[in-house]
Amino acid sequence: MKVFSVKELASSYITDLKSKGLTVGLVPTMGALHKGHLSLINNAKKDNDIVVVSIFVNPTQFNNPADLEKYPRTLEEDLEKLRSVDCDIVFTPETSEMYDKDEAAEVFDFEGLDKEMEGKFRDNHFNGVGTIVKKLFNVITPNKAYFGEKDFQQLQIIKKLVQITKQPVKVIGCAIDREDDGLAGSSRNMRLTAEHRSSASFIYKTISKAKEMITSFTPVEIEKWVENEFKNHPNLVLEYFTIADESNLKTVTVFDENKNHRAFIAVFAGEIRLIDNIAL
Ligand code: PAJ
Repeated sequence: MKVFSVKELASSYITDLKSKGLTVGLVPTMGALHKGHLSLINNAKKDNDIVVVSIFVNPTQFNNPADLEKYPRTLEEDLEKLRSVDCDIVFTPETSEMYDKDEAAEVFDFEGLDKEMEGKFRDNHFNGVGTIVKKLFNVITPNKAYFGEKDFQQLQIIKKLVQITKQPVKVIGCAIDREDDGLAGSSRNMRLTAEHRSSASFIYKTISKAKEMITSFTPVEIEKWVENEFKNHPNLVLEYFTIADESNLKTVTVFDENKNHRAFIAVFAGEIRLIDNIAL
């Protein structure tokens, strides 16, 4: 496994491989790798000759400096995990390698995708994500790049990003990897107290029940039902639950059989904010 921290060195190594006809799949991450990340790597390995994983805690996507500071940095463990799954190349740059001093996020027109759901709670977050992913695509020049449906809004925004930037990368969405009790895999799960960890399975149980309700209830009725379920819950606090059109992420009030709908949820378990979603 080759590990690069300098852009030009990673670029020229990869250009050389591509000139030999090899295809390259990129899995961008911020490290603190878990099973969910490894599932993206497995998808990338199936489709490509070479798998590149980037590990970079991207400052421009954090609105809160304390969150950036607190973000887990576990490079040695991450590299160990990547060796065990036969990752070919790791790109792990310093911040100064990706950003000029005081460089801010580029502003993109994501046609409103960035204004829904997570965008309402995390100002400018998706411009930061777009900025770093565009830079990573320029350095690695992957044929395909892999993103989890866990962050479905991010996935849709990256698909929009490559339309805007015209970078020749195919963006592939990968299914959510879940724990045995249904909880979506996340680096935040290990920060839950034992009690919150056991309660957190309620999130997936509830959105699964919501999915079963779509034949008999309207989106508005289902939203009310979910809100009530959480009102009665002793230690989980609902931030939002919404049923939206997958293509524009706007909340719907009626189901339209010509559209794909998905339910999205954000919940606080103590201090820890958890998100999940399910195709309806
Ligand atoms: P990070 O949170 O490290 O996630 C990296 C990728 O792993 C994302 O595409 C995310 O959706 C995916 N992922 C996380 N948990 C998953 C799960 N349980 N199942 C499937 N996929 C999962 O998302 C980011 O980093 C950053 O915003 C990034 C895109 C790297 C830009 O900085």
